[in-house]
Amino acid sequence: MALILPASDPAAIEAAARRLAEGSLVGLPTETVYGLAADAAQADAVRRIFAAKGRPSDHPLIVHVAPADGGDWPAAVAPFARELPDFALALMRAFWPGPLTLILPRRPEVAAVAAGGQDSVGLRCPSHPVAQAVLQAARRLGVQGVAAPSANRFGRVSPTTADHVAGEFTALSDDELLVLDGGACPVGIESTIVDCSRGRPVLLRPGMITPAALEAVAGLPVQGRDEAAPKASGTLESHYAPSAKVRLMDVKALQAALDVLGKDARHIAIYARTPVKTASGVVVRRMPGDAAEAARALFAALRELDATGVRLIWVETPPEGAEWDGVRDRLSRAAA
Ligand code: TXA
Ligand code: MG
Repeated sequence: MALILPASDPAAIEAAARRLAEGSLVGLPTETVYGLAADAAQADAVRRIFAAKGRPSDHPLIVHVAPADGGDWPAAVAPFARELPDFALALMRAFWPGPLTLILPRRPEVAAVAAGGQDSVGLRCPSHPVAQAVLQAARRLGVQGVAAPSANRFGRVSPTTADHVAGEFTALSDDELLVLDGGACPVGIESTIVDCSRGRPVLLRPGMITPAALEAVAGLPVQGRDEAAPKASGTLESHYAPSAKVRLMDVKALQAALDVLGKDARHIAIYARTPVKTASGVVVRRMPGDAAEAARALFAALRELDATGVRLIWVETPPEGAEWDGVRDRLSRAAA
């Protein structure tokens, strides 16, 4: 089993930084989800991430950076990015540190394995104090960037607690994986990803930062992804999937189906904002009515409902509106 240490202990932060510098894996809390982290410059360490996740090696990872000097974003990305367009710098100034990943042209000599062979690299400066502390401590040991995909096996639900992470990688020993316990992730869904390597911003993955907020800062229209966009695990049609089958329905259809099934609905779990009537014994969890709260609770709720052993999870379709884009995106992939 992985070793779990409380992130409140400064010695644990130092231990995590040392492990990264030595080429070992760390389960790292960020404001979005927990990452499975390794030094982006060490090809063997990064290969261990792909192996542990069972992730295809051509699916690029995000490299996490933190400048030594507060907001010096150009210095933080310089070791990895060959170019920094003005609109990308504007996005960093507005949203870093925070849940935004920017894809930039990559320096060909660095982080090739982490980038999955792309000539670009995904970069993010996380705002979580534990992630910040580890990145700073690791930088003092010579680590300029930390590759970290979400710390789940390929295609499964992303982790938002340290226990989720340890439960994903039971085959790794306490020498092979240290997980820092920084509590539950406050954002709860992965970062918004904007490709800045093609001269104009392209949204690759929706998150809690909306297209309107991005456009206001970039001063350019933000386009949706097209066929030319590189492979992104989070953009595969089926992803974030629990073992039970997830189905999205509006509340009328959901209630009608429950009424038809009656007691036979006991192998189904319900996740809905609107109260529904069910036979006794049916597991029902309330989805928060606020988009940010729904995001924070989403992955833990899917895991909890899955763990009850039901075969089906019926979820009420999230409301319209850009602030729900991230939650709607994750749920539709979980249901695909
Ligand atoms: O919030 C997050 O972004 C979390 C935390 C740990 O930072 N990380 C995360 O990583 O979600 P992951 O690997 O599960 O998703 C990263 C996404 C993938 O869909 C990947 O394909 C895309 O970022 N990506 C990374 N580098 C890319 C690149 N150079 N070009 C296109 N997509 C890229
Ligand atoms: Mg992921």
